[in-house]
Amino acid sequence: MSNRAIYPGTFDPITNGHIDIVARASKIFDHVIVAVAASTSKNTAFSTDERVQFARETLSQYTNVEVQRFEGLLANFVRQWGANAVLRGLRAVSDFEYEFQLAGMNKHLVPEADTIFMPTRENYSYISSSLIREIASLGGDVSEFVHPIVRDALAERFSSRHQKK
Ligand code: COA
Repeated sequence: MSNRAIYPGTFDPITNGHIDIVARASKIFDHVIVAVAASTSKNTAFSTDERVQFARETLSQYTNVEVQRFEGLLANFVRQWGANAVLRGLRAVSDFEYEFQLAGMNKHLVPEADTIFMPTRENYSYISSSLIREIASLGGDVSEFVHPIVRDALAERFSSRHQKK
């Protein structure tokens, strides 16, 4: 049986922290599916298509990784793709309570899959997509934290704002 993991998230946008998790997971699992949430309570800066495109472009070197959008319940997507694992990155202890709840509920909804937690690499433990967006929107340098494709997209997205100043 091959091990297939789903790595879900909003990825608004994908950061080097996410990429690091995928890179490490691609060595452990036979197949990793990065699942980009289309419907999210978050007010996203980038459309689902853009978020999928950034993930595809930045992860293209990993041959056993694919990027798909998903709508609705994660559990349904996990079942649809025949995955046996849900992969989640943990950045800090504060992430744990919510993640534990999510893992428990997903286990209830799709018993054939287990949640696997992977610690985020230390130098990415304090970043999040919203922090990256905030820094970029204020003209800060985010090149240490995102792929050049994403850095340029952020710069373009927020350039009109800077010009208005
Ligand atoms: N490096 C850097 N940042 C990271 C990271 C890492 N390794 N891992 C997570 N983050 C950041 C994310 O960028 C995100 O930042 P933001 O809050 O500024 O956007 C934050 O940490 C939280 O990430 P995450 O917990 O993955 O949340 P998410 O919004 O990206 O994804 C879903 C949550 C989509 C997986 C979850 O809501 C879901 O499953 N939704 C589907 C509906 C469903 O099934 N609901 C029932 C669940 S039982």
